[in-house]
Amino acid sequence: MLEEDLDNCLAAMLKLNRMAPLVEDIRAFAARVRSEQEPAMVELGMRLFHNKSLSASQDASCSSCHHPAIGCGGDDLSMPVGINAIDTALLGPGRSDGVNEVPIVPRNSQAICNASLWSRGLFWDNRVSLSPDGVLRTDSRDVTNNTVNAVGPGSLALLIAQAHFPVTAPPEMGDITDFGYDDSVDENFTSYREDILAASLDTAAWGALFTSAFGDPEINFSRIAQAIAAYEAVQIFIDNPFFEYVEGNLEVLNAEEKRGAITFMSRDAGCTFCHKGAFFTSEALMAANYPQIGIGTDASGSGADLGERGLWGLEPSVRLLC
Ligand code: HEC
Ligand code: HEC
Repeated sequence: MLEEDLDNCLAAMLKLNRMAPLVEDIRAFAARVRSEQEPAMVELGMRLFHNKSLSASQDASCSSCHHPAIGCGGDDLSMPVGINAIDTALLGPGRSDGVNEVPIVPRNSQAICNASLWSRGLFWDNRVSLSPDGVLRTDSRDVTNNTVNAVGPGSLALLIAQAHFPVTAPPEMGDITDFGYDDSVDENFTSYREDILAASLDTAAWGALFTSAFGDPEINFSRIAQAIAAYEAVQIFIDNPFFEYVEGNLEVLNAEEKRGAITFMSRDAGCTFCHKGAFFTSEALMAANYPQIGIGTDASGSGADLGERGLWGLEPSVRLLC
């Protein structure tokens, strides 16, 4: 295609994809989510997110695998290393537990930035999910109830529910049964989160921060999860040259980039079949046809790590791309 035709062609593609109103929507959503978070809550959440006290083994924090400065809240590793790192302060390439050639965490850690833009589910298999009519689902009724009691099905419900799980995932933040905790009487780990973990945060050190965020110094796990969610929610990065182009600044992309955008949206490449709209996703579960790296969680051994959920329930329209 001639260079002088690129803008017209791209304009037609953008129209077909309704890109202008979708960019407007995503900007409005981001502005609302950012403005709704109180600075004191974000501050508390930031301190909790980067603190190893939430780990049973006291050696991993959320940021061990999701550092804002690495890959937009990831870790730049195919498979993360949580507990037992040789150097607990080393993040990203080189981080190792020295024992396992194949890391014991089964999946790649997702980037945290823009996580508040997901409306249907979190985790690779959407096992924390919101139905279109706003019903929250998780693996644990206690977590679901705890979240709904705290915020209802509000906009941060997914993040708040999600934040309950890493602290009880043995390879991520430690095996709580190693510390004499009897999980046979508390299979949802609720009393571990409340009576051991939340109680272990020293009121002298944390009380003032909880008071600034919640009005009183009580420390419980739903508050911990709410604060972490608020911190994650403000990490929205959507300013980019493509959006500026969509908004009318035709100079901001070069010819190669315009060709790339056209190809991306063309039927032949088919990228927008799955990477739709201004968030570039249909939010559906899709098994891509490449081999699984890492131990995965898929008992069927299909090589497409959708866990249990990909195959039933949430996403009946799963397609294998073969
Ligand atoms: C050992 C590394 C590790 C640690 C520590 C860890 N995570 Fe994760 N995180 C992961 C992995 C791996 C996934 C994907 C898991 C899956 O899909 O089964 C994930 C997924 C997530 C997601 C979902 C993102 C999305 O787009 O769906 C959020 C949010 C998240 N983690 C937040 C946290 C928080 C909050 C903490 C601390 C309480 C934490 N993580 C601790 C590795 C880690
Ligand atoms: C059948 C659905 C599907 C199609 C078609 C598809 N993708 Fe993807 N793509 C995915 C899924 C699912 C993921 C994330 C999961 C994963 O990495 O396993 C992904 C991830 C990506 C990522 C990594 C994003 C990130 O945040 O790390 C890029 C880049 C990407 N795709 C580009 C493309 C391009 C370019 C095309 C067209 C040539 C394309 N995709 C077509 C489903 C698809």
